[in-house]
Amino acid sequence: MTNRKSVYVTRAIPVETIEELRAHFDVEVNNDDRALSRAELQERLRGRDAAITLLTDTVDGEVLDAAGPQLRIVANYAVGFNNFDVAAATRRGVVLTNTPGVLDDATATHTMTLLLATARRIAEADTFVRQGCWQGWAPMTFVGLDVDRRTLGIAGLGRIGRNVAKKAHAFDMNIIYSDVRPDRAFEAAFGARHVDKDTLLREADFLTLHVPLLPETHHYIGAAELRAMKTTAVLINASRGPVVDEVALVEALRSGEIWGAGLDVFEDEPKLAPGLAELRNVVIVPHIASATPATRIAMGRIAAGNIIKVLNGRAPETCVNP
Ligand code: DGY
Repeated sequence: MTNRKSVYVTRAIPVETIEELRAHFDVEVNNDDRALSRAELQERLRGRDAAITLLTDTVDGEVLDAAGPQLRIVANYAVGFNNFDVAAATRRGVVLTNTPGVLDDATATHTMTLLLATARRIAEADTFVRQGCWQGWAPMTFVGLDVDRRTLGIAGLGRIGRNVAKKAHAFDMNIIYSDVRPDRAFEAAFGARHVDKDTLLREADFLTLHVPLLPETHHYIGAAELRAMKTTAVLINASRGPVVDEVALVEALRSGEIWGAGLDVFEDEPKLAPGLAELRNVVIVPHIASATPATRIAMGRIAAGNIIKVLNGRAPETCVNP
């Protein structure tokens, strides 16, 4: 028997993080290559002092009660924390943390990757070559969209939205953005223009979403918004799936209401809306925007650091409780 504090990690994460935690605590990791079920999560958290959780782990009052009153902190291995019931944790005195800042570059790079891949039809062209369909160079094969000097609409000017603007600036893109807080310094630095949502939808050649998932942003893009976009426009989503009405998006892509979409996130992951995977004008990848080695290690460092601090009676770096 040991009186070291006990930490549970709900999925394999970089070994550096586990080693850092093991220097202080007893640590158990779910090394199965699948997310825990709700019942498993409750059972594995029982008696723990701390946990590292993922977006796939719903942490609500019932789960916290199953863990027990000794639980001090749940550190999400993500910047998003829509899997947390923050009010329920706050009522129980459980600290919740996330990993902001360290995944901005990776996520913004991935956003540009999706934008470029969709515009230049990379996934479709790759499949064409692999399937042996290529007969040689032809002027009208896989003609895509121009990116340089086109208008990029950014919905949500947080850290990731700004980082995307910085990268898009290298393509001389004309940047418009919507956000509740206009930022004049940002506008001056990037020649950007603050616009309302209608203008954003109407003018963007590429629309990229960087809003958090909140009740107000659920289906921020639905059938009406898709109709308001250019028929030559591309929608990029590396924020959260439910920000887009995926059924309406399938219809808009199918009917040519918009030209294409690049999606990293989905409404009901890992399921896709019926018909989405059959469409050729969409690039779909499995929620990998932050999947780079340095980012994953940095996310782990923040999560472990928060746990070490809280279990030693100190304040965490990145608390999400009010
Ligand atoms: C996050 O951190 O919120 C991403 O969606 C997963 O890395």
